[in-house]
Amino acid sequence: MAEQLSERLRSLRALLDQYSYEYYVEDNPSVPDSEYDRLMQELIAIEKAHPEWITPDSPTQRVGGRPLKAFSKVTHEIPMLSLGDVFSKEELLDFDRRVRQTVGNDVTYVCELKIDGLAISLTYEKGQFVLGATRGDGTTGEDITNNLRTVRALPLTLPEPLNIEVRGECYMPKRSFEKLNEDRRKNGEPLFANPRNAAAGSLRQLDPKITARRRLSIFLYSAGTFDREKITTHYGLLEAIKSYGLPVNPESRRCATMQEVFDYIDAYTAKRDALPYGIDGIVVKVDSMAQQAQLGHTVKSPRWMIAYKFPAEEVVSTLEDIEVSVGRTGAVTPTAVLTPVQVAGTTVRRASLHNEDLIREKDLRIGDRVVIRKAGDIIPEVVNVLTEQRSGNEKPFSMPTHCPECGSELVRLDEEVALRCINPKCPALIREGLIHFVSRNAMNIDGLGEKVITQLFEKHLIHDVADLYSLTYNDLISMERMGDKSVTNLLHAIERSKQNSLERLLFGLGIRFIGAKAARILAMAFRTMDDLSRASVEELTAVDEIGDKMADSLVTYFSKPEFQSLIAELKAHGLNMNYLGPDPETIANADSPFNGKTVVLTGKLEQLTRSQAKKEIESRGGNVTGSVSASTDLVIAGEAAGSKLKKARDLNIEIWDEGRFLETLR
Ligand code: IVH
Repeated sequence: MAEQLSERLRSLRALLDQYSYEYYVEDNPSVPDSEYDRLMQELIAIEKAHPEWITPDSPTQRVGGRPLKAFSKVTHEIPMLSLGDVFSKEELLDFDRRVRQTVGNDVTYVCELKIDGLAISLTYEKGQFVLGATRGDGTTGEDITNNLRTVRALPLTLPEPLNIEVRGECYMPKRSFEKLNEDRRKNGEPLFANPRNAAAGSLRQLDPKITARRRLSIFLYSAGTFDREKITTHYGLLEAIKSYGLPVNPESRRCATMQEVFDYIDAYTAKRDALPYGIDGIVVKVDSMAQQAQLGHTVKSPRWMIAYKFPAEEVVSTLEDIEVSVGRTGAVTPTAVLTPVQVAGTTVRRASLHNEDLIREKDLRIGDRVVIRKAGDIIPEVVNVLTEQRSGNEKPFSMPTHCPECGSELVRLDEEVALRCINPKCPALIREGLIHFVSRNAMNIDGLGEKVITQLFEKHLIHDVADLYSLTYNDLISMERMGDKSVTNLLHAIERSKQNSLERLLFGLGIRFIGAKAARILAMAFRTMDDLSRASVEELTAVDEIGDKMADSLVTYFSKPEFQSLIAELKAHGLNMNYLGPDPETIANADSPFNGKTVVLTGKLEQLTRSQAKKEIESRGGNVTGSVSASTDLVIAGEAAGSKLKKARDLNIEIWDEGRFLETLR
């Protein structure tokens, strides 16, 4: 009986894996979803009765992990490089010329779709999926194993007990993306702008249960560690990866000539919309691995492959109006108001026109038909005007001479293109300054968005940032769409912001030229608002990365009585005026691979003495000890290392040779 049951369990697992593969990899399911669900329920029931039979690779165990507090870091043994890109066929011919110069004329390429998702790395040990990581900065990524386990296209076990690291793209199929946004719309949640953002957001979930609901998928296209003995071409590698049941995109083709490469590009430019997943270009790779090695790579990217990026999608709309707004610094910017159009997955209604010169250069007139595209597929811009479609009724536009908010005359400062309102009492400047003060990188007051600030300001409940700290329950409950709960939360958030470290306040004050980074550097260097406000131009510029413009602006700011009294008022409200962040040393070490690590040096180093090496590690936050034990994180082994090295191997501790050590010190 038990034997029959365990036999059924095995066949259920095999069937479920097969159906997942058909559905997620081949996009060609042989059974309806209900059949999959029925078999899954049967498997769950058997495993419930026999918990001792549950194995980590069972299809029921994809969502096994608990929510994490944070992702841990993963070092890529072989760095994950990035890819050079080109935007035209001419540039592709240049690439081809460079390749042929190095390897001669006998070149075959493989063309692949450039999947619009996130680069990931998958490690299998003895055929079991043990580690999934993001690319991160190419050297260090994040451990997202539990999230990747939920991706059904990814086998948890390979048919052979292989040790391999394969790489590819995790993406959200268009179907999943639409369903996700539909659900979010129903729940009143913000929508994802495109499948790539949705995939990124889903992979960065600390709770794998959420990732599991997001229906991601994967295509693999390269390998880190792989037994390449019999593999001599990229195409062969793809076939090998596929033969292990790993998902490989079926559209890749070998191309013997550049004409074939261009035909491939044309064919998929046309088919792009019909594919069930998003692509943003075509990757062209040299097929022969011997030639790949000959071409090598730069620090950033391999010389044997290149990405041809599709041109940004362009659509036509009508310029209904040009609105002018005044920003925090008084700069007056024109914005195009457009008839809403879909561009690259989102609805575009407005596009910044930056300044008057741009309007003149493009000769934009209200009523014009204009071409719109998204720069970097994110920020909408007006490309040009279809002058041939003009009816003659279009109206030329000129910038106002006076501030649309306070009526004072606008000026052009020095060589600037922008017109500015320089009235410090201009309501627009004050309102935008308040919005900036509460924003995420400044005081980060949750629940105080643009709309609430504008209402509070218009009702004269706040005039400057200090007034935020006098707001009462009664003030806030009278605002539109503010209930008891949100008012209480908001008051808490305001109270909490008093404890922010100095750099947030400093950035929030909106002092000219002092961005978030400069604010952090200054807060770290001077530690208190008092010391900073007393600093001279010389003392300020003595700080690394603080230039004359910033120093002048700070000294001017702190010399003005109105700002001195504003700071005194904030102090009286109980705002913290000190730097509370980590000290500069800890920050410098935060990215160091030695930080917080216990390191053992063994054997003879060529380039450094033992004590120099020790000093280098300690100055980067590491701790050097004499003997290898289970608590050792890293062993650096020079020439003729003996028993310590052996012990490190036995304990499976990370081992570096001198070369790797020196590289890290650089
Ligand atoms: S090969 C050296 N092949 O595009 C990097 N990349 O813009 C090796 N991508 O980081 C990349 N589809 O995340 C390769 N068929 C494909 C790809 C692909 C998408 C991504 C990948 C890479 C990015 C570069």
